[in-house]
Amino acid sequence: MSTTVTEVQTLHLQPQGDGQTAVRSNEPIKANDDGAYRYAHLLPHFSKDTYPPLAPFAHADPGLRAISHPNPRAFLDSATKIVDLTPKLGTEIHGVQLVSLDDNAKDQLALEVAKRGLLVFRNQQDFIDSGPDFYLQWGRYFGRLHIHPTSGHPEGYPEIHLVYKDANSSYNFQYDDSTTSTVWHSDVSYELQPPGLTTFFLLSQPRTGGDTLFTSQVSTLQKLSPPFVAFLRTLTAVHSGAEQAAFSRAGRRGGVVRREPVETVHPVVRKHPATGEEALYVNKQFTRRIVGFKREESENILKFLYDHIERAGDLQARVKWEPGTVVLWDNRVTGHSAIVDYHESGERRHGARIAPQAEKPIPALDGLKLDD
Ligand SMILES: [Fe+2]
Repeated sequence: MSTTVTEVQTLHLQPQGDGQTAVRSNEPIKANDDGAYRYAHLLPHFSKDTYPPLAPFAHADPGLRAISHPNPRAFLDSATKIVDLTPKLGTEIHGVQLVSLDDNAKDQLALEVAKRGLLVFRNQQDFIDSGPDFYLQWGRYFGRLHIHPTSGHPEGYPEIHLVYKDANSSYNFQYDDSTTSTVWHSDVSYELQPPGLTTFFLLSQPRTGGDTLFTSQVSTLQKLSPPFVAFLRTLTAVHSGAEQAAFSRAGRRGGVVRREPVETVHPVVRKHPATGEEALYVNKQFTRRIVGFKREESENILKFLYDHIERAGDLQARVKWEPGTVVLWDNRVTGHSAIVDYHESGERRHGARIAPQAEKPIPALDGLKLDD
């Protein structure tokens, strides 16, 4: 790997005596005393390990445990500032330290992420600096950790999915021949049990740019007419990991495919196990066709839905990263896209994702047949 670990392009964090972290933007420091990259131990590693197919497992949603709590938002009692990013999607929270949450609070967190789709926690440097063993412990509370079939991970920690780009290298799944870097998707939706509550943070970021877009798939569904929604509830679609694997097999990313790609049939409208909310569950990156339809029928309906998702700026939120930010989203009811607008700067963007798998998507229509 050609990555240089001495190049320092990240923002400066100054730990304070009160355990909080003061953030000074646009100060390109952050290095150890010897000048080495502070998170060099978390740089992407592409082991040649191979994995068997994922086996089904029973998922108990942690958000369900919080529903009977007298105050399911008690974990926010210490918050100093809570700002809803948009009316229906996303909340930014200051003053709550994720690293300190007990199990009861984690259940509440899971329910709140399910309700708001996206939570943005600022000043979480202690969480980020707790290291990879802590990341695993954190994620395992919410479900069995997904091991990505093709991405880079810190050496010895395959459960931690990394995104990485710097002046010399990119280990992300992205194409350079498109007019846009925007690709709306739900992570690894081709799995039989795709991730639910997902945690993501940046270890290093450009001075500006590299924001992340989110959309509410509950809201995109609600924008459609009731008869059309009733029709969509009757549909299933094939989601495929084949293209992502082929990208790596062509020698890009890290060039490894550790688990053979799968195709899975999911309902086009799924229901969240804790909130009961219905969400549109197709995405341009991984959904390939509607089961039982002629090719033109499938292509036109999916194109309509993708256009609808992409056009709905009124249903979207945009996270601008600050050092110390930890973002959680519910991958079952939201879509997201990276924004690659910083490559000319040559700056490093290095992020880590912890993705516990959730239940097999629950169809909104009882008894919907899920065969190809
Ligand atoms: Fe993603």
